[in-house]
Amino acid sequence: MSWTPWEQAWEDALYGERGFYRSTHGPAAHFATSAQGIPGGGAVLARAVVALARVHRARHILDFACGRGELLTQLSALAPDLTLTGVDVVDRPADLPQDAAWVAGPGGAQVPPGLHGLSDVLVLAHEWLDVVPCPVLRHDGRRLRVVEIDQHGVERLGAPASAADQRWCEDNWPGWDREDSRIEVGRTRDAAYAELRGSVDSGVVVTIDYGHLRDARPDGGTLMGYRDGQACAPRPDGSTDVTAHVAMDTLGAPRLVRQRDLFTELGIRPEAADDALARTDPPAYLRSLALRSAYTALTASGGLGDFWWSVDPVSRRQDAATAASW
Ligand SMILES: C[S@@+](CC[C@H](N)C(=O)[O-])C[C@H]1O[C@@H](n2cnc3c(N)ncnc32)[C@H](O)[C@@H]1O
Repeated sequence: MSWTPWEQAWEDALYGERGFYRSTHGPAAHFATSAQGIPGGGAVLARAVVALARVHRARHILDFACGRGELLTQLSALAPDLTLTGVDVVDRPADLPQDAAWVAGPGGAQVPPGLHGLSDVLVLAHEWLDVVPCPVLRHDGRRLRVVEIDQHGVERLGAPASAADQRWCEDNWPGWDREDSRIEVGRTRDAAYAELRGSVDSGVVVTIDYGHLRDARPDGGTLMGYRDGQACAPRPDGSTDVTAHVAMDTLGAPRLVRQRDLFTELGIRPEAADDALARTDPPAYLRSLALRSAYTALTASGGLGDFWWSVDPVSRRQDAATAASW
């Protein structure tokens, strides 16, 4: 029997040599996101991203953890004037738009070293942080301990929490010291986010994920698996996605907004389909219907509309000037 802390088992299961995300089929073979798998969803998401890029005067969109580049295809069609880059853990997908650049990285919390000094950029990370492995802890009535897992998916409590994880819980998780409290420690996500942000000289960093804030941390943990289109137990054996909700407020971004509220603010709601189009151009009519119903799905309360967007403008030139004036 071999016992491994969840954080390590999770890392191996997703990003190891035979990890879940290294498979040729990619995430789309197992689950849908706003970017892919919902007819019209990618087009609606692309509208929002381009609208936000215009607000921040970005000329380059870098889609970090972009799967197989599904959203880049939508972005390329919608805004051919923008420079596009995709980053994920596999080689460049064959059907990526020709004008998009591609960077392959190691995965998890790591940002490829070649990404630095990005300027006039919107860096997007859509459903990245929830698959950055993090320590899982449980309070045994006396102290927080690391939750370990074996190859059959059985859990046990291991060593006491590290000092850094203990501190993160005390600072960020009210009720951390309740017996049986189970905590997915956001420290590794915070650090990964800071590293991604560090690659930007000017622009805006946007992460999008399902998550929680200090006043509503989840009870009992959110660790889940997805396989072949179904939610399932989180088995760390490479066959299954393993994900946990993100503590969005500890990333340090100045703005957090729900997807449904941001879409309203950006004014990207598609027009209702014109019935006359059904006779003159049926395919266009169907596209128009799909766009409208995708907008409804992506803004639904209790569903994708609840996703959080963190929006974090970066200007190192301005930061340096402000620091120098003090
Ligand atoms: C849940 S999927 C989301 C894919 C896509 N953004 C979407 O929304 O459909 C997570 C993706 O993050 C990628 N990923 C995880 N860590 C990464 C890293 N450090 N660098 C690049 N890609 C990463 C995985 O390989 C996977 O394709």
